[in-house]
Amino acid sequence: MQHPPSQEAPKNLVLVGFMGSGKSSVGRLAAKALGFQFTDTDQIVVERAGRQISDIFETDGEAAFRALETEAIESLVHMDGYVVSTGGGAVLSEHNRQLLRALGFVVCLTASEDILFERVARNSKRPLLQTENPRATLSKLIHDRSALYQAAAHHTLDTTLLPQTAAVEALVTAARQAFAWNPLP
Ligand code: S3P
Repeated sequence: MQHPPSQEAPKNLVLVGFMGSGKSSVGRLAAKALGFQFTDTDQIVVERAGRQISDIFETDGEAAFRALETEAIESLVHMDGYVVSTGGGAVLSEHNRQLLRALGFVVCLTASEDILFERVARNSKRPLLQTENPRATLSKLIHDRSALYQAAAHHTLDTTLLPQTAAVEALVTAARQAFAWNPLP
């Protein structure tokens, strides 16, 4: 679903979506294609805290992580010419959703549950999936969050059937349309 772009041309491309939706990998390649810089709110949190996300969750709890995540998003307000990848829970608060939409053109990357699970199962770093039944947890989180991703996003890109290069191409095309300019010199 494509909402009309705002009157003012967006300055950044912001990626939201569930863990494993490809925000970082597709985002990095899209940044290259657009001639943009790339940044990642999870990475900002890790650098600022000097700790891994799993450690923050374990020691201080999810609420502490969410506060750091909001600070990371707030630190981006003056950015221009960036692809911003966000953590899967960045859309949970209304405040974050507003900040992300003010930051630029927000695209939600989606994929089928099977594909998401296959991707996230490859590493055990995601604290929210350290449960007895990660597949059921993933299903529930997707169910609980899907409306929030839609509320945050101007545009949704389903990558279920797309190889990575095609996903990048579709994302870049959508961004160029939203920006209504050709970012190449
Ligand atoms: C989270 C997703 C993670 C990270 C943290 C919480 C979530 O980021 O921010 O573990 O709530 O979905 P990725 O989406 O990059 O895995």
